[in-house]
Amino acid sequence: MNYKIMSWLVGIVLALSGATGFAGEASVPAIIPMPQKLERHEGVFEFRTGTRILGLRVESGTKIVADVDSNAAGHYLAAQLRRSTGHRVQVRAMEPGGAVKGDILLTTQGANPALGPEGYELSVAPDAVVIRAPNGGGLFYGVQSLLQLLPPEVFAAKPVPDVKWTIPCVQIEDQPRFKWRGLMLDVSRHFFNKEEVKKVLDAMAVHKMNVLHWHLVDDQGWRIEIKKYPRLTEVGGWRKEIGFKLDPKASKAYGADGRYGGYYTQAEIREVVAYAQARNITVVPEIEMPGHSTAALMAYPQFSCTGGSFTTDLPGGVFNGVYCAGSEQALAFVQDILTEVCELFPGKYIHIGGDEVPTDNWKDCAKCQARVRQEGLKSDKELESYFIRRIEKCVKAHGHNLIGWSEIREGGLAQSAAIMDWIGGAVEAASEGHDVVMTPLAECYFDHYQSTNQAREPYAIGGYLPLHAVYDFEPMPAKLESQYQGHILGTQANVWTEYMPSLKHVEYMIFPRLCALSEVAWSSKAARNWDDFMKRLPADCRRLDQLGVNYRHDMTDIGNALPTK
Ligand code: ACM
Ligand code: ZN
Repeated sequence: MNYKIMSWLVGIVLALSGATGFAGEASVPAIIPMPQKLERHEGVFEFRTGTRILGLRVESGTKIVADVDSNAAGHYLAAQLRRSTGHRVQVRAMEPGGAVKGDILLTTQGANPALGPEGYELSVAPDAVVIRAPNGGGLFYGVQSLLQLLPPEVFAAKPVPDVKWTIPCVQIEDQPRFKWRGLMLDVSRHFFNKEEVKKVLDAMAVHKMNVLHWHLVDDQGWRIEIKKYPRLTEVGGWRKEIGFKLDPKASKAYGADGRYGGYYTQAEIREVVAYAQARNITVVPEIEMPGHSTAALMAYPQFSCTGGSFTTDLPGGVFNGVYCAGSEQALAFVQDILTEVCELFPGKYIHIGGDEVPTDNWKDCAKCQARVRQEGLKSDKELESYFIRRIEKCVKAHGHNLIGWSEIREGGLAQSAAIMDWIGGAVEAASEGHDVVMTPLAECYFDHYQSTNQAREPYAIGGYLPLHAVYDFEPMPAKLESQYQGHILGTQANVWTEYMPSLKHVEYMIFPRLCALSEVAWSSKAARNWDDFMKRLPADCRRLDQLGVNYRHDMTDIGNALPTK
C-alpha cells in the first residue's frame, strides 16, 4: 500500500476520532512544530554504520569540501548522531555525479527560493535522505525535523544500545509562519550560568525557536560585564541573599563571599551568542532603562535623580530604581553601556526595556523638570519618550534597531523602534508602521501557574496559563488591518524568574508550554489542532527526557503535577 496523508487531513481525522490526552500516540510522524506540508510514504530509511552526510561540493584552496551551509548543519547532525548512536558519521562533499545511495545529502542547490531563509524540503526514501533549502537556517531546520523522525533516543547524550535507527519515509515542505519565535529568559531575578543558558538554547533549537531574549538587567541583579563600568557587575551583580523568601539551597549561584548572584564576562557572552548562532538562534539582549535599574544605581547612584543609596537586598525585591532623565551624565552612562552591548550582539535588535517606569522621582527632580521645560514636554510619558528617543539614536548609530516593551509608545514612539506588546499597543504601533512582537500577559507569561490547583504546583507569581491556552493563542491581532499584518514579527514566551531559583524549575515552567508555542509560531493557523498536538506531545516529552530537560508531566490543567525536585 502506498499512502499519502496531508498534515491537515491527519488533523481532521484525529479530531473526528475524539481522542484526547495521552491515551493513543500519533501514528504519523510526531514532529513538533507541525510542518506546513507532510506526506507519509511507505517504507523506512535505515541509519547504519557507514551512512555518510554529504554536502554540496565546493573548492576551498586545493581541497574539495562541503559548502559552508551544508557543512555547518551536517556537522551538527553528525555530532548528535555520534553521541546517541555511537556511529562515527563522516561529513564530506558529494561525489561528482551526485549519487547519494544510502547517504544523507544536505544541499542548497536547486532549492526553492520561495521557502525563504528558514524553509526547507526534506525527502526520506528507503535509499537516501535529502534536505534541500535555500539557506543554512533551512538546512538546520531540515536536520531538526529529521532528528524528530528518528527514535527519541537520538537526543541522548551517550550511545543507546539496541535501538533500530529507522526514519519513516516522508516528503516534507516546510517554512515558518512567523520570523520571530522567541523565549525571554530573566537571569536577573535568578542567575543561570552559561552552560545552563546553552541547555535552554538546545531545547529551543529542537522546537525551531529562533530568538533568545536575554533579560540581563533588572532591579535584582546586573549580569553583563561592561568594561567601562566594572562596578555594575562587582556591586550590581550580587545581593546579600537569594531573596523572594526562597530556600537558599535552591540555587548554587553564590560567590566565594557567600553573596547570591553572578554575571557573564564578555567572553562568555560571545560564547553564548556563537552557540546560539550555530542553532539559528539570535540573541537579543535586554538592558532595562530608564526604570528597573536598581542594580545599576546601587553601583552608580550618581545617575539617579536623588543620588541616594540603592540596594538589591530589600525583602521580596519590590523596588524599581530609575535613571535621571534630566541628567546628561546619566544619558552618557547608558549610551556607553549600549556601545559595548551593541558590539557583543550581532542581531538587529537591542531591547532597552522601558516598562513600568516609576516617574515620581522625576516630578521632584530639578534636572528632570528643567528638561521638561526646555523640551516643551507635557507629561512624564513624554519625558520617558524623550529619553527613549535619545537612546534610539545611539542604538541606530551602532547599526541596530531599538525594541522595547509596550510602554515606550505611550509618549510617542521613536521612528525606527519596534515594540514588544505585553499590555497592548500592537494594533496602533503596527498601523503606524512599527514592527511588533506579541507577548501578551494573558497568553505568553510562562511564570504563571499551569494549573488551577496551585497547592500542587511550585509557588509561582500568580496568573493561570494552562497548556491549551498557549496552544489556542493567536498572535495576529484580530483588529489589525491586513496591510499592516506584516509588521507582526511573531511571538515569544516570557519567563520571569522571581520564583524560579533553579534551571530545573525554569524548565518545568517552560515545558511543555514552549512546545505549544512553537507550533503557534511556526505552523500554519489552519493546521493547528489540539487533539493532534496532544497525540504528538508524548514523543516530544520523550525527546525532552533524553535531553535531560525537566517538564510538567501532567498535561491537564487540573493539577496532578509531579514535584520539580
Ligand atoms: C513586563 O512584564 N514588565 C514587561
Ligand atoms: Zn531626575
